[in-house]
Amino acid sequence: MSALLDEATRIARQFDYPAAEVRRGVAEYIRQMNEGLTKEHTTLSQIPTFVTSVPNGTEKGLYLAVDLGGTNFRVCSIDLHGDTTFSLTQSKIMIPRETMSAGSAKELFLFLARQIESFLRIHHNEHFEAHIRRRNEKNGNCEEDLFDLGFTFSFPVRQLGINKGTLIRWTKGFDIPDAVGQDVCALLQSAIDELELPVRVAALVNDTVGTLMARSYTSPGETGTFLGAIFGTGTNGAYVEKLDRITKMQTIEHSEYDKTTGEMIINAEWGSFDNHLSVLPNTVYDQQLDADSINPGVQMFEKRVSGMFLGEILRLVMLDMHRNESLGFLKTSASSDVSVPKTSSLYRQWGIDTSLLSLVEADKTEGLEEIKAALKDHLKIERPSIADCKAIQTVVHAIGKRAARLGAVALSAVLIATNRLDKGDLVDIGVDGSLVEYYPNFEGYVREAFREVPEVGDAGDKRIRIGISKDGSGVGAALIALVASKEDARMKAQ
Ligand code: GLC
Repeated sequence: MSALLDEATRIARQFDYPAAEVRRGVAEYIRQMNEGLTKEHTTLSQIPTFVTSVPNGTEKGLYLAVDLGGTNFRVCSIDLHGDTTFSLTQSKIMIPRETMSAGSAKELFLFLARQIESFLRIHHNEHFEAHIRRRNEKNGNCEEDLFDLGFTFSFPVRQLGINKGTLIRWTKGFDIPDAVGQDVCALLQSAIDELELPVRVAALVNDTVGTLMARSYTSPGETGTFLGAIFGTGTNGAYVEKLDRITKMQTIEHSEYDKTTGEMIINAEWGSFDNHLSVLPNTVYDQQLDADSINPGVQMFEKRVSGMFLGEILRLVMLDMHRNESLGFLKTSASSDVSVPKTSSLYRQWGIDTSLLSLVEADKTEGLEEIKAALKDHLKIERPSIADCKAIQTVVHAIGKRAARLGAVALSAVLIATNRLDKGDLVDIGVDGSLVEYYPNFEGYVREAFREVPEVGDAGDKRIRIGISKDGSGVGAALIALVASKEDARMKAQ
């Protein structure tokens, strides 16, 4: 074997995450998870969402949803048909990196409100104009025909009610300091009011909760969906918890909610599992990524699992190998010229997108032609050798597999701690995000790890049904807006 492949294999081995470590991770996750249910300010936030039931597919109505928290900002309207189907109209725009970290909260939320305005003008203009006419007739006082909107805001929020919650911290590269501590629903509502839009922010929704709700609406089983998880730009999960296990509810300030179901969806914010690194693997690349990030020491699980960070881990490994002259990595063999141009995003922090990892892992061609094409498209790297491509594939495989196995730690811990596998029924999990959707065999690696956890094992693995829940953040937000508006009407009637 060449020195280069030897080195790639040596580095890949640092990303091994063996069965014993998976089991140790699960035990610690359960401990941190239970701790998060008893008090605030724990590493796993375990945020009560005030959503106390999951849909059964019969819900009906037209709702608006907006989604901030991934790569794109989306505005959509969702028509729930009441028969497990829906139609969805949406517009999305990519959020420029500058917008994520510059300006003030007010600027950000006005920008969002403007997108809602142009969406309404394009897709619901009649409704919009009719509302304006009625408002003018009634001298500005018009509660009629407001659209109920579900606000999918996928960051850690201290939730105080179904449409009330203060931002705990930004994640995934966002950094607008004056928003921290503010009620994000109120911020959005005041921007909407400033533009005089016929919209009421009815619900605050994390994307994982939306995913869970959407999955439960579209594929209702006898028991509904139990868990929603995102493996995309970020990673996180939400699940159905028994109310009497959420003992911290007694100590936190909150508005009224329906207690009759005895359950509530918890947003785990598992991106922050084990921030103090008691069990998480920690290679030199993980350490470097964290040190150079805008939020060192937090989201430590997410930094090893989700799309935004896997590309960066790969980039750090590739740079390391490239700088090691003796390996000849990414140098054209004939002239030994550097084949990575200065303008390549290999030299730029966050310069590698997860889609590159998916392409690299997927390439089964003999000449690794797809990897070559991807290196050219993504990184302007010309004429890499076969050994270069193999080295990259070896490393990618290790980084991706470790991510999936870590994902299995969180999933199995939640299943075990809630005794969900004891009943012998199918347990339904809805997932979304670029990694689980496009990274080859991501679910397969997750399941391999499930079987290595004795409390899950072969039998448990067979009872776990995992399904992609497309558009979760839109449909799910609509479903929660529906629950919220019914609850609102019920309270007003009392
Ligand atoms: C980050 C956010 C979390 C979200 C996840 C997936 O971890 O903090 O709220 O659910 O990304 O988008």
